[in-house]
Amino acid sequence: MSGTLGELDSLLAEVLQALSEAKDAVEAEAVRVRTLGRNGMLTKRFAAMRDPALPAEEKAALGRKLNEIKQRLEEALSQKSASLRPSGPRPKFPEDLTLPGHPPEVGRLHPITQTIQQILAIFRPLGFSVVLGPEIETEFNNFEALNIPPDHPSRENFDTFYLKTGGKAPALLRSHTSPVQIRFMQKHQPPFQVVVPGRVFRPDAVDATHCFQFHQVEGLAVAPGLTFGDLKGVLAEWAQGMFGSSARLRFRPHHFPFTEPSAEADLSCIFCDGKGCRVCGKKGWLEILGCGMVHPEVFRAVGYPPSTVGFAFGMGVERIAMLLHGIDDIRLFYENDLRFLRQFP
Ligand code: PHE
Repeated sequence: MSGTLGELDSLLAEVLQALSEAKDAVEAEAVRVRTLGRNGMLTKRFAAMRDPALPAEEKAALGRKLNEIKQRLEEALSQKSASLRPSGPRPKFPEDLTLPGHPPEVGRLHPITQTIQQILAIFRPLGFSVVLGPEIETEFNNFEALNIPPDHPSRENFDTFYLKTGGKAPALLRSHTSPVQIRFMQKHQPPFQVVVPGRVFRPDAVDATHCFQFHQVEGLAVAPGLTFGDLKGVLAEWAQGMFGSSARLRFRPHHFPFTEPSAEADLSCIFCDGKGCRVCGKKGWLEILGCGMVHPEVFRAVGYPPSTVGFAFGMGVERIAMLLHGIDDIRLFYENDLRFLRQFP
């Protein structure tokens, strides 16, 4: 008798071992069928209890043992199947697992920002630092200190956005980046050389080449002994870095109140290499920037001594970006049309 019960213990141990080694639901089910299935080892032993030859006492002990084993086994089976089931809610799959995913939208820099960065990247190794100024300016910084006389057309309402300041000092949206020259010189002593990117505003009627807002990069270098030759050298270096080694600059006399002498620089047409085409109007040259030696009146306005020398220049970023990319309408930059913007990765 005890032999039979002991035999059942080792049977249980062997079955539990097999169950613990089952790698998946199929193997666990095989263990269940082998023991509790219709022809399972335990099922058979339950059936054997019906033998009338079995003494009542032994029958009770065997029955208790079999029930105990059956219970242990059922517990182990349900634990096993729980451990094989993935925890948490079943993931919901889309109907078609071969559908492509949704790629995340990757942002990019606006072509004007990219052009500004390109311009600055050429001036930095030439020793220029980047400084910024505010878009709202005083009349003093935007005009007076830059030697722009009261009757100059750029001070008229049709050329400048004035702000209502409620009796306080007149303020306006800067019409160029040159007032940052004043701000910088009021706080620093030469020698220095800086470039100033920024947005400027003029109440121009909007067309393919004009907008009420655009961007400039200003340059200012002040140091003893600087000459117009230094200005030409720096700008020629910039033009070649920007447009390639065949780019040439031509300097034409011009007038700005804040430089003397002043010049406008033309770039050899990058479309026809100076031969004359539709873009340059058969001239072979493209107007690209204004420049000159800083006017002594400007140095006086910031308290520098009369012996001070330096040069300044200012270029329009939109114009340069349009030349670089063959864009024929400035409005494209401001319309936020992704078909346009996506072409500047
Ligand atoms: N501020 C001038 C403009 O907006 C450009 C310029 C800057 C010219 C510096 C000379 C020197 O047209």
